[in-house]
Amino acid sequence: MMNLSDVKATLSFSDGSAAMELPIYKGTIGPDVIDIRKLYGQTGKFTYDPGFLSTASCNSTITYIDGDKGELLYRGYPIEQLAEKCDYLDTCYLLLYGDLPNDGKRKEFHSRVINHTMVNEQMQFFLRGFRRDAHPMAILTGLVGALSAFYHDSTDINNPQHREIAAIRLIAKMPTLVAMAYKYSMGQPYMYPRNELSYAGNFMRMMFATPCADYTVNPVIERALDRIFILHADHEQNASTSTVRLCGSSGTNPFAAIAAGVACLWGPSHGGANEACLNMLEEIQTMGGVAKVGEFMNQVKDKNSGVKLMGFGHRVYKNYDPRATLMRQTCHEVLNELGLHDDPLFKLAMSLEKIALEDDYFVARKLYPNVDFYSGIVQRAIGIPVSLFTAIFALARTVGWIAQLNEMIADPEYKIGRPRQLFVGAASRDVKPVSERA
Ligand code: CMC
Repeated sequence: MMNLSDVKATLSFSDGSAAMELPIYKGTIGPDVIDIRKLYGQTGKFTYDPGFLSTASCNSTITYIDGDKGELLYRGYPIEQLAEKCDYLDTCYLLLYGDLPNDGKRKEFHSRVINHTMVNEQMQFFLRGFRRDAHPMAILTGLVGALSAFYHDSTDINNPQHREIAAIRLIAKMPTLVAMAYKYSMGQPYMYPRNELSYAGNFMRMMFATPCADYTVNPVIERALDRIFILHADHEQNASTSTVRLCGSSGTNPFAAIAAGVACLWGPSHGGANEACLNMLEEIQTMGGVAKVGEFMNQVKDKNSGVKLMGFGHRVYKNYDPRATLMRQTCHEVLNELGLHDDPLFKLAMSLEKIALEDDYFVARKLYPNVDFYSGIVQRAIGIPVSLFTAIFALARTVGWIAQLNEMIADPEYKIGRPRQLFVGAASRDVKPVSERA
């Protein structure tokens, strides 16, 4: 809840214009905010904050990050406890409804999601229009956007029942869509979902089974995948979530808003970093592996090279990303289970991490490993192709996007998002005839 602080901010101007008093609100935890909503009306001036470095775009009750401590809470619960004691669908319930489910609600929610896993049969004909070698994120953006064409009865964002059913449908159908995109690229038949399996187990089967043989879900891998989903489920107002909020603020349908989130996530500075990180590790491996780490680090530190250490750094975390700690642990478990403890890429990643954590460049800038540093190694070990990593991130983040979208729409104070600008282009001028133009 937003509480008005006793303290107020005063904005004064050196040209003698009248000063303005600005209210300050306090949240439960985290920095206070200065309320500038009346600033333009009273002063005719905007604030300027490209990249939202100092701007809270909304108030929210869902996720809290303390970037200095390296703390991540979903609805107040530390990510470490959720990763240990809950599964992904419990986490989805928590994010959507505000608290963890009791036994009865848990069973009811699990069964509702599991019973919506199939997609309209027509979806596979739609999928067929894509090139077989299309990037899975290109396909996923299209498929998620197309859901609004298949599920007309849940597209009214202002109707709470529509929002609820769209939420369940999206969470339930994302694994099916991601697996279909994968099977399509492989030229293999789609595997229909099996509702007696867990959410993660079902996804594994849809990905890796074929109709010609029985498939047994490996519980260690199932748990690892479920943990990847939990760790990626929400991350407050990051680029894709803010995209979903902005897109949804126009009143567009939930499927369209989530498709916008998928598109934003694709970028290498955001969800695409796991793919970029694995490609980077493979490239260093080809150059000569651990022996070439020093040379690679010199490139990273050279501002003119354009090379970044992917999987390192974060806008909010100025400490170890708590998700990276958990992912590192999962990485050990999966590699041990699969007999891959000598995996050269894992060794390379550990060596890069060690060097970076001791290097002045990284220490001075507070650059630590983020979740993507280890998630790619886990996914690759499981057998997921690199190009599908970001699609798995999108699958897991869908619940966060929906929870944030629904929170915004249900807020009586919500308005269409409409940032302003500082215009620095040409002022008004006349169009000259072609012969007179420079
Ligand atoms: N490698 C080398 N230098 C870096 C890196 C990196 N990975 N990240 C930041 N820096 C430097 C940057 O050049 C700048 O240096 P200087 O102050 O000398 O100009 C300084 O550190 C501050 O960086 P910034 O670009 O101002 O920070 P930002 O908050 O705008 O960017 C980031 C955050 C995540 C985009 C960036 O750290 C990055 O590109 N990291 C690599 C990509 C990556 O792993 N992304 C995944 C993020 S976590 C998953 C998710 O939530 O999507």
